[in-house]
Parts: sequence; C-alpha cells; structure tokens
Amino acid sequence: MAEPDHAFYLRAMGVQSWRLRRAPEPRLAPQPVLAQGLPPAAPAAAPAGAEAWEALQRRVAACQACELCATRTQTVFGVGDRRAEWLLIGEAPGQQEDLRGEPFVGPAGLLLTEMLRALGFAREQVYIANMLKCRPPGNRDPAAKEVLACQPFLLEQIALLRPKIILAVGRIAAQNLLNTQQPLAKLRGVRHQWRDIPLVAVPHPAYLLRSLTEKARAWEDLQFAWTVYSQLKE
Ligand code: URA
Repeated sequence: MAEPDHAFYLRAMGVQSWRLRRAPEPRLAPQPVLAQGLPPAAPAAAPAGAEAWEALQRRVAACQACELCATRTQTVFGVGDRRAEWLLIGEAPGQQEDLRGEPFVGPAGLLLTEMLRALGFAREQVYIANMLKCRPPGNRDPAAKEVLACQPFLLEQIALLRPKIILAVGRIAAQNLLNTQQPLAKLRGVRHQWRDIPLVAVPHPAYLLRSLTEKARAWEDLQFAWTVYSQLKE
C-alpha cells in the first residue's frame, strides 16, 4: 500500500480527526526504590510467568485437539506485550496469519493496527490473540467443537495476562466470549463482563473494510472502550 498508513486509514475509516488527547501509559515494571535504601530489583528480569507463557505456546504448537491441525501451516498463538492491560480477542487466523504465525497481519490486521494507533497504542503495547489458534479452511466460521477444543488455551492466556479490559473483535468472538446469540449490534456500546474483567465488543475490521457506513461508527465503539478503561483507573 503506497500511501502512508495513518492518513490512509483515517480517511478509510471515514473520520476527520482520530486521535485521543491522552495516550495510555504502558504498564511498566516497578522501578527499584533506591531512595528508601532497598536493594535494586534484579536487572532485566523476564516478565513474571515467562516460563508459563513459553510452555503454553509449546502446547499450542503441538495441539491436535481438533481437525484444524491437519490443514494449518502453523498455529497462531498471540502477540504483544505480556504485561498489557488491553487484550484484543479475534476470531481465528486467516490465510496471512496462518502463513506468518501472527494474528491480524492481513488487510483487516492493518486496519486493526491503525485503529489501535488512533487510540494511542502501538500494536506492541497491547496483547492480541484469537479464540482459535488454527485457521479454519477457507476462513469459514469456527465450528462450536473447534471453539471448545481451543478454549483452554485462551483461558490460560487470559489468566497469564490478567488484562484490565478485553476487546472482543467481531461478532463471533463477542458471542462466544459472552455466551450469547445476540447480534453484534446489540452487544456494541455496552460494558459487559467476562468473569471479573470488563469486555467491550467492537466490529471486526474485515467487516469495516467491506462496509463504508460502519467505519465512522467503529470509532465510537473504540471511544466507548476507552471510556470504560479510563473509569477503571479512577
Ligand atoms: N481475523 C481474525 O479474527 N483474526 C485474525 O488473526 C485475522 C483475521
């Protein structure tokens, strides 16, 4: 894509100005309290649970719990800051994701990355995962048994990350995470709970790429998510 992405996506989203005034603060590791005479923290310590993350990733890579293992190029575990406060959960890897082993790297992923940037986040500051770690052939909707088979991995990712807010990206993720059949239109703009974590449903960027009229409304969804998050910090 020749055009510089930011301007391109702002226009693509049908929004004139798309930046929040206050960028979120990244979750930083606590600094050593030298002034109080305490010993400094161990230098360059790996994030807590690093071994657990690696072990989980290995288990995902070896998974054969459903038939998608036969058609995948590789599993798509998840990507981002393992101390992130924001967790985005999509549906399943598409073709590009299956080839590259990373979620949301195709055209929809570029738009998602730009949406994040408009919120003040670099892609690396959040954590991005999918409900399914393997691509359904032809990008068909995930089958219920596939969601069920993959669910323990997502649950472990959430337990390790302990995010402050979850964004369910798209109808399928929202319906599965909230255990409802309600249409996305009814789920948008509402603060839901996933267990004790607030969850906001946003439209899938692949849908936004197809629907010109929805692009500007998606900004409202993101602003709503931001409001929910801001209130948590008060
Ligand atoms: N759509 C998703 O829901 N997830 C991806 O990783 C890519 C496209």
